[in-house]
Amino acid sequence: MRGKSVLLIIGGGIAAYKSLDLIRRLVERGVKTRAILTRAGAEFVTPLSVAALTAEKVYSDLFSLTDESEMGHIELSRAADLVVVAPATADLMGKLAAGLASDLASTALLATDKRILMAPAMNVRMWQSPSVRRSADILARDGVLFVGPNDGEMACGEFGPGRMAEPLEIVTAIEKALAIPGSALNGFKALVTAGPTQEPLDPVRFLGNRSSGKQGYAIADALASAGADTVLISGPVEIAAPSHVKLVRVTTAREMLAACEAELPADIAVMSAAVADWRPEFAMNSKIKKEAGHAAPVVRLVENPDILAELAHHQKRPRLVVGFAAETDDVLSHATAKRSRKGADWIVANDVSTNGKGETVMGGERNQVHLITATKQESWPEMAKADVARRLVQHITQHFQDTAS
Ligand code: CTP
Repeated sequence: MRGKSVLLIIGGGIAAYKSLDLIRRLVERGVKTRAILTRAGAEFVTPLSVAALTAEKVYSDLFSLTDESEMGHIELSRAADLVVVAPATADLMGKLAAGLASDLASTALLATDKRILMAPAMNVRMWQSPSVRRSADILARDGVLFVGPNDGEMACGEFGPGRMAEPLEIVTAIEKALAIPGSALNGFKALVTAGPTQEPLDPVRFLGNRSSGKQGYAIADALASAGADTVLISGPVEIAAPSHVKLVRVTTAREMLAACEAELPADIAVMSAAVADWRPEFAMNSKIKKEAGHAAPVVRLVENPDILAELAHHQKRPRLVVGFAAETDDVLSHATAKRSRKGADWIVANDVSTNGKGETVMGGERNQVHLITATKQESWPEMAKADVARRLVQHITQHFQDTAS
């Protein structure tokens, strides 16, 4: 972190006192810290304490001509490597989500070209209110990073999520945010499919599979971290989306295909979803009832579109199309055949047969894969899904560097 710089926006809330400690810890680590203190923030901590700790001038008023001549608000918002909002109030979150610029803090947030990390702090009911939920969703989709809020007793006596993360947790989040390389794939657009699809049989039943989406979500996270403009098209899963990707939720294979096509053109497509190969020919509009004396219904299946093959043969084909191959036997030969059959550039193959304990890689945290391209086959050791994702993205980055030179 040494040598990096942070613009800290201190919003109005009792947690503002923790921001003083945060400044101290950043300065201790050699991080140059400049602060904007909002008018409400100044009700809780004084400009003097902030100035003393940062050893910098404290900015607070958008219309101060002296400030503007020393350092304009645009420059202030861009001079740092990262913008941190702590405490991030409902007001600041709402303003940024709505694109409002009514004071220096909100103007700097809109004008910055750097990542924003927010440490929200507010009353639990406020945090849970539909409007703050909406702001948080919009901000997350726009790529704003979050740390906290934590659960606990609040200054107002209520209990629940709303307490600002502790200064050391914020420092760790800052460290992570600063470590995001964020440039190798700048200007590239990536599409990632993940999770299962669900194919309805009637309003309450569907045909699905056990995919957890973890590997695909990790890949979307790694692509976005490398700077790619990343769209994650996901079937129904239980995990949270990485904060800096655009998430498109779908249910069926046909919706997934339509969502992918709507995002073309793209440079990179990584198709990790476990798409249902078939769907019930008819989805009933009302629940299929069990009737005495009637035989069990027979479900006829029809084939779903193959999204990977469709994109690989599309008029707007992404420059690099990567498919997955989930195999239970003859992994390498089946996956190699799948690569040419589907027209993918690369296939990431994994063995999804059960181990001795009846567990499969589906749903687990680790994965052991083989990367198959037109010219090579590499077997990677077993590693965490996040590491598989990072390694795959390194290969993707290398591929584009090689093809550019
Ligand atoms: N795939 C897809 N659309 C489908 C089926 C699969 O896009 N309708 C993609 C998956 O996302 C994955 C690759 O195709 O990238 C291979 O998936 P897999 O389930 O291993 O292959 P299948 O097509 O089901 O082939 P098989 O049943 O022969 O193993």
